[in-house]
Amino acid sequence: MSFSTTLETPQTGKYEQPTGLFINGEFTHGVDKKTFESINPTTEKPICAIQEATEKDVDIAVSVARKTFEETWRKVTPEQRSRYLLKLADLFERDLDTLAAIESLDNGKAFSMAKVDIGMCAGCLRYYGGWADKIEGKVIDTNSETFNYTKQEPIGVVGQIIPWNFPLLMWAWKIGPAVACGNTVVLKSAEQTPLGALYAAKLVKEAGFPPGVINILSGFGKTAGAAIAAHMDIDKVAFTGSTVVGRQIMKAAAGSNLKKVTLELGGKSPNIVFNDADIENAISWVNFGIFFNHGQCCCAGSRVYVQDGIYDKFIEAFKKRAGANKVGDPFAQDTFQGPQVSQLQFDRIMGYIDTGKKEGAKVEIGGERHGDKGFFIQPTIFSNVSSEMKIMQEEIFGPVCSIGKFSTEEEAIKLGNATTYGLASAVHTSNLNTAIRVSSALRAGTVWINQYNMLHHQLPFGGYKESGIGRELGEAALANYSQTKTVSIRLGDALF
Ligand code: NAI
Ligand code: MG
Repeated sequence: MSFSTTLETPQTGKYEQPTGLFINGEFTHGVDKKTFESINPTTEKPICAIQEATEKDVDIAVSVARKTFEETWRKVTPEQRSRYLLKLADLFERDLDTLAAIESLDNGKAFSMAKVDIGMCAGCLRYYGGWADKIEGKVIDTNSETFNYTKQEPIGVVGQIIPWNFPLLMWAWKIGPAVACGNTVVLKSAEQTPLGALYAAKLVKEAGFPPGVINILSGFGKTAGAAIAAHMDIDKVAFTGSTVVGRQIMKAAAGSNLKKVTLELGGKSPNIVFNDADIENAISWVNFGIFFNHGQCCCAGSRVYVQDGIYDKFIEAFKKRAGANKVGDPFAQDTFQGPQVSQLQFDRIMGYIDTGKKEGAKVEIGGERHGDKGFFIQPTIFSNVSSEMKIMQEEIFGPVCSIGKFSTEEEAIKLGNATTYGLASAVHTSNLNTAIRVSSALRAGTVWINQYNMLHHQLPFGGYKESGIGRELGEAALANYSQTKTVSIRLGDALF
């Protein structure tokens, strides 16, 4: 069997799409030879069938990853680990258009935006390639009788479970630091968007990684995902997705081998606009903050708080701006917003829109589906949204913005923090002191000032409160993929 099929996109023409599980450097079928279909959210039609991993395939991939870790990968020099990652980054750039087109096909994201994602993947892989041979310990002086040093060692076999909203970016964020630190990986992609991860697996092979260092499984959460979380021979699990599943992963880790856990979960991030903000700029960033990636961002600026002096003017201008966002075919050049990823997500979001209407919030624009085919939803803005309303409290994960009003800085901070989440936040003001005071008071892992959604592989990203545990990106991620060993050598005579 070839485990590959020919697909076509408007941007790339025909290309070869791998469809197997990627284990030990080869594409293969699952033990049960089951397959499932990935859906194109623009047409609602299946794209192709791919092999489905079950618990048995997780077992096989983990034993391969363990063997590779012990027998091969541990002996590979940090410099060589660096070279593999740098090469992989180059290959992502070489195949940028194909990878971006796969994202548009499988996830529905606008092709122009998908290209930015892939550029960021390459940036992230290259950045961690740069780190691989700079992960160092310390010599620690305690007294003249001992010589002490620390080493940063890999954790071992790492299980990674990623979501569908940034299929390849999450792949790169997870694999880059794990491999740089010397771990081997079993990664499960999201069932809605398995195609990019498999194409990237082909690039892993081309980059020359020893077989078994990076293993990629397509499959479902309740089966393959749960098997990763509960596996007795996985040393660490890293998860990005819903808070509900994040809790299950922690429980499964606690109930099995107490594997280390990092979680990057949901958010309901506040985007706060003060009277003295440059209003045109603020509107651009608020628009991008919520409607970028069709609102399917863990850090989306979904709660917008506007100060009373500019509230009415802001709403009028924001309506115009959001109304001009082009919704449609992800492959059309001027498209900003494509379809939501799945029927399930579409239904969830439409449910929240109904709730907002019933709760008495005012629909400023949108509030309906867009067109009659594909999972498209109109950019939707609710104003007069009070703190208790569900649409101000719960993560909607769609193109739905909830706006409230505030008078004082103190009130803005209080509203901003009035959530169980703490992933991101933003402040728009021309006053430096306001910006610094408010950013210090907000309980969130990221605070953007006069911008939004501007992630960078050098900058740590992760959640306060129920938005997660640990940090991704930057030097901070290395701490989540390595462990400190202390070696203490006796120089002096026996003490006891
Ligand atoms: P999800 O949390 O169910 O899925 C994310 C990943 O976890 C997928 O790979 C899935 O297969 C896996 N998974 C699901 N159940 C699992 C289990 N029991 N054990 C191990 N792995 C499991 O998220 P879903 O249902 O796709 O989206 C629901 C909501 O989650 C969204 O509406 C959004 O609010 C939030 N979400 C947040 C994301 C983020 O970036 N933080 C990304 C995706 C969703
Ligand atoms: Mg799909």
